Amino acid sequence: MSRHICFHLPPKHPWRDLLKWFDSVGSTNTLAKEMAAQGAPHGTILIADHQTEGRGRLGRTFHSPNAAGIYMSVILRPQCPPMQLMHLTCAVAVAVCDAVEKALGFRPSIKWINDLVVDGKKLGGILTELSIDPKTGLTDYAVIGIGINCTQRSEDFSEDIRSMACSAAMFTKKAVDRSRLAAAMITELEEMSRCLLSEKEDIMARYRQDCVTIGSHVQVLRGDEKHEGIALDVDCEGALIVTFTDGHTEAVSCGEVSVRGMYGYT
Ligand code: BTN
Repeated sequence: MSRHICFHLPPKHPWRDLLKWFDSVGSTNTLAKEMAAQGAPHGTILIADHQTEGRGRLGRTFHSPNAAGIYMSVILRPQCPPMQLMHLTCAVAVAVCDAVEKALGFRPSIKWINDLVVDGKKLGGILTELSIDPKTGLTDYAVIGIGINCTQRSEDFSEDIRSMACSAAMFTKKAVDRSRLAAAMITELEEMSRCLLSEKEDIMARYRQDCVTIGSHVQVLRGDEKHEGIALDVDCEGALIVTFTDGHTEAVSCGEVSVRGMYGYT
């Protein structure tokens, strides 16, 4: 598979020799964090055919069955304070939408902040993890983990997520070339990493175009409390601007946000 991915990359691609392929791992993000802590360079890419402990945002599991998806983590070393990377997950989401569009011919939408969706169902997700150098206060490394459902049929998803999940093959009704998609993701992520800090406004403008949460009725979960409102916008730091039913407006930057009409929220 590694060979097949490299076949689709330009011979001089700067990340080409940094690609590490695994048959099965616990979580590519966990392994990438260990490798980054031991000095693995910017652009190191880990891809696995299977994950036994794939992780998602908010402590969730990301089901990663053998040879059915792309399970990829990339180590970045942006030399900046972590506060300048608040938009990183959004930038990754736009880059992955670009890659899916180029490799598979359709463009997913984004459910704030990190879900890729088609037909109101989850196609994939992004898990960004940062480490800060305590001496300098600068970012030591960022690990961006991306999982995309590629070849599953509806019945391959466990019953608890079946109604909310989708794969690229289910959506296109065609065979999906995972190597080609992985190579497109590497290409788009490398380009994104070069303009991450210099083209922040442009990246966020593109994120807003893809984000289906904007303009939707949303439910924000905080502890045991649910608050309803309308999502108005996403700001430059990636926070969701919500006007709640009591009339106040807030920038929501973490936690769970359900979007009416998606994943069973009606
Ligand atoms: C989410 O849906 O909340 C994020 C899912 C991220 C899954 C990817 S798969 C590759 C990488 N390794 C992990 O354990 N998680 C990410």
